[in-house]
Amino acid sequence: MKALMIRGNRPRRLSILAIVLPSIMCFQSAMAETRTDRSGKQVVETVCVGCHESGKDGAPRIGDQAEWAKRASHGLGAVTEHAITGIRKMPAHGAYASLSDLEMSRGVAYMVSGGAAIDPSKPYSSPSQMTGAQLVKARCSECHGSGKEGAPRIGNMDDWKPRLQVGVDNLVTSAIRGHNAMPARAGMANLSDSDLRSAVIFMVVPQKP
Ligand code: HEC
Ligand code: HEC
Repeated sequence: MKALMIRGNRPRRLSILAIVLPSIMCFQSAMAETRTDRSGKQVVETVCVGCHESGKDGAPRIGDQAEWAKRASHGLGAVTEHAITGIRKMPAHGAYASLSDLEMSRGVAYMVSGGAAIDPSKPYSSPSQMTGAQLVKARCSECHGSGKEGAPRIGNMDDWKPRLQVGVDNLVTSAIRGHNAMPARAGMANLSDSDLRSAVIFMVVPQKP
């Protein structure tokens, strides 16, 4: 309902509200059922557009890639943190408290990548064709193969055991957000959560010789 109010505050949208209202209600109940599955696109189009479309109060505008690149120059981690905790006139969670941190990170990734995900309509939680093994080979092994900058090595139980004490879910979240020298989403803003999860699971399982 809050999302509706945001839209409703904008007079030029009022006239079409009556027409789109039923579909929005439908959309919202669909979202309620799959709460944790809101994609970056859904989050942005429901909540963030309120300010980030027009650039209200100096909000970086959707599609202004130069501005987003500048802000995200130190990685997605820091900007995601700011969106979650709030910064200057950017309210915490976009003033939409029911958005989870994960959904916020998807919204940020969506805006930073200019919606240029492989398939922008794809929820970040839906699986792709890539298996964990393929993804690890394609991307993660660059650091996790040799243990570059302290990256826990693939299939090395000594490296992973202390980290696994917090549980796989927390490791996945940590890979999504970034962690010290570990870039958020391994530097691939449009990598889905479930792809990352498959990759993490592949890495923490001891390798057969
Ligand atoms: C009420 C207006 C408003 C809404 C709604 C809003 N933002 Fe913002 N946002 C801002 C403003 C203003 C800034 C610029 C803050 C600054 O740097 O001074 C900003 C900045 C940001 C930044 C950059 C932070 C940085 O470190 O430079 C991110 C990321 C961001 N918003 C994400 C989001 C996401 C994701 C949503 C939707 C869930 C959202 N915002 C909704 C107003 C808003
Ligand atoms: C540019 C190098 C680099 C790439 C590429 C990279 N990682 Fe990492 N990763 C690191 C480093 C360094 C750490 C250790 C960070 C620390 O704990 O200080 C790490 C830690 C992690 C952790 C443990 C986080 C924690 O909280 O203990 C997970 C999980 C992880 N990476 C998953 C992945 C996955 C999955 C991929 C591929 C999709 C990947 N990483 C790609 C460098 C990288």
